[in-house]
Amino acid sequence: MATSIPADRVPDMGKRQLMNLLLLGTISLPTAGMLVPYTAFFVPPGSHLLAIAELSFFTACTGSAGGGTVAKDALGNDVIAAEWLKTHGPNDRTLTQGLKGDPTYLVVESDRTLATYGINGVCTHLGCVVPWNAAENKFICPCHGSQYNNQGRVVRGPAPLSLALAHADIDDGKVLFVPWVETDFRTGEDPWWA
Ligand code: FES
Repeated sequence: MATSIPADRVPDMGKRQLMNLLLLGTISLPTAGMLVPYTAFFVPPGSHLLAIAELSFFTACTGSAGGGTVAKDALGNDVIAAEWLKTHGPNDRTLTQGLKGDPTYLVVESDRTLATYGINGVCTHLGCVVPWNAAENKFICPCHGSQYNNQGRVVRGPAPLSLALAHADIDDGKVLFVPWVETDFRTGEDPWWA
């Protein structure tokens, strides 16, 4: 004999739709994660299809769009520009997570504003992450001694090139890194990283 459920125990339509959406979201992201490498196995290297599949999955996971990525602090939280400036003083350079997950310095100018560029912290010699040395006003690589000025321009080898740049825009209060494809303002040359 069928047992009827009291009407006040049955979720209304709005709640059921919300639960369905949450369930769909829970299932679809891991499924997409499994599908990308599976698809990659069958698609020839260099294929546009593969690139599009990878980009779509990356966008779904990071929430980034249009080539920009919201900067993340050391705890993985979005960097809110106003909050950042409360705790980071003039001439500060602190690492955040930037484009493609690269360690990227956010720069506070001497007038306590955020610079419109971020500096990729990966040394152009052999890829060590280069610490900021405030006392020397330089980035100094601990691996083989390369030095970069306070804007990331190489001033001493063996590093062959300056540190890469990214635009640091403010979008809805958050710091958004966007690829830098224009002339490198430090050298007047085309960006080697673009
Ligand atoms: Fe930085 Fe060699 S990796 S100087």
